[in-house]
Amino acid sequence: MGRSLESEANSLTVRDNRTGKTFNIPIVDNTISATAFKAIAAPRKEGEREENETEKGLRVADKGFLNTAVIQSQITYIDGDAGVLRYRGYPIEQLALHSSHLETSYLLIYGHLPSREQYKVFESEIMHHSIVHADAEGFFRSFRYDAHPMAILTSAFSYLGSYYSEANPSLQGQTLFTKGDHNSLANMDKQIFRLIGKATTLAAMAYRIRQGRDFVTPPTGLSYTGSFLYQMDHLGQENYRPSPVLERALDVLFLLHADHELNASCTTVLQTGSSLVDPYSAIAAGCASLYGPLHGGANEAVIRMLISIGSPENVPAFLESVKRREKVLSGFGHRVYKTSDPRSFIIRKTADEVFKVTGKDELLDTAMALHDAAIKDEFFVKRKLAPNVDFWSGLIYRAMGFPLDFFPVLFAVPRVVGWLAHWRQMMLQSGGVKIWRPRQVYVGAGKRDFVPIEERKPVEGPKQAPTPVMHSGITKRTAMAEFKGKTKL
Ligand code: SDX
Repeated sequence: MGRSLESEANSLTVRDNRTGKTFNIPIVDNTISATAFKAIAAPRKEGEREENETEKGLRVADKGFLNTAVIQSQITYIDGDAGVLRYRGYPIEQLALHSSHLETSYLLIYGHLPSREQYKVFESEIMHHSIVHADAEGFFRSFRYDAHPMAILTSAFSYLGSYYSEANPSLQGQTLFTKGDHNSLANMDKQIFRLIGKATTLAAMAYRIRQGRDFVTPPTGLSYTGSFLYQMDHLGQENYRPSPVLERALDVLFLLHADHELNASCTTVLQTGSSLVDPYSAIAAGCASLYGPLHGGANEAVIRMLISIGSPENVPAFLESVKRREKVLSGFGHRVYKTSDPRSFIIRKTADEVFKVTGKDELLDTAMALHDAAIKDEFFVKRKLAPNVDFWSGLIYRAMGFPLDFFPVLFAVPRVVGWLAHWRQMMLQSGGVKIWRPRQVYVGAGKRDFVPIEERKPVEGPKQAPTPVMHSGITKRTAMAEFKGKTKL
């Protein structure tokens, strides 16, 4: 049957001028399939590289995933132009005002706001699974006191998975989490409870390593964020209860950081999870991605930037150095938001609540001067660079007294929820899980034959050969010593 007028209208007609052929590519949900372009092949031109594979059909290039959809999702929607963020359709502003991090976690993972009874069960499961095996203490103590807490947390997620062979598809079979039957769903939920419940415990243990303090067993009777603060700060006081203002502020921050659709770390979780590895390893991979200063590490970078600026008077000079590309304005810019990140307004308001009890952070004046200057400056306006979630959050964490390098940990803990929501969605997606394996455009050397070492001429020059490493200390002295089997460095 001929294509209906409707489907004809909803399609892209592509003419390949190399062959004169025309192709109709259907448009579904304002999207075209990249694999449809594989049908558009042409004979290789005279002298064209065989590696271009022209006769095998076109590839679609999208460096940095600027405009490539890799999955269908029902979890989070962002309109970057309008500054809209919704979790399962609920505006982030309403959730921040009326919900809690755990209730929003339920929403993100299961797709609807829980009934009172459903929430009670969910919360008790998560709080019940906040305790870690006593052996974990040895694992944490193996880190130096000054190890970056994100390095500890990233390792800890992977370490955690080693306790749960029942959660490991490499041991139990690759359909462990994709079957979707009762046992598979129950197993999946148990790992979700464990990872959310233990995320705060692992983070608190990393903090206690830095502080040189014993670990604290998760208490009963406190909220998720209350228990987190308790585990970080308790030093034996009787009936210790964290400040309700800090507890609420941290809960709002957790809720705001819970998910943000396919950001770099979530994509990493899905890329890793697509090999059907266990969820602990996938979450560890996501945590490693979040660690970077372009992503979750930006809240730490913002404070380092504000400290380096020093005072409001130095803001104009700093902005000039940014325009000269000598420095980056951390906390500004976003791949999706081309107006202010809606979370930044809520965080800014939360900051004022916190400053009421902690006192204003002395960097706030510099931050406000920087913000006010940048949002009016043509360089940033033209590039649609506005404050993102990280611009103000670091000021709150600093006012709360957390060490600078702990800030990304405060981003990772709540983001475990979003990572798990997307991982679960992918495991249960119709048609099963396909491994993510992007293509490349090969522009390297053509076919060449092996050359025996005696016939080779050394290739020198920057990036073409290893850069000499300067040795010092023991290496330097042993290089001057004589001993059996000594190799020349
Ligand atoms: C998060 O994806 C998410 O959803 C992430 C996140 C989440 O919740 O998961 O929202 C959390 O990671 C927020 C972003 C935190 N990172 C930072 O604050 C670091 C500073 N920001 C930039 O590094 C940058 O804006 C990115 C990485 C966030 C976005 O980079 P893009 O989309 O690749 O944009 P780009 O680098 O192509 O920039 C476009 C232009 C360039 O200038 P031109 O070469 O076109 O002249 O804007 C410039 C960039 O040089 N630019 C900046 C800038 N960000 C972009 N210039 C100065 N300072 C900046 N911060």
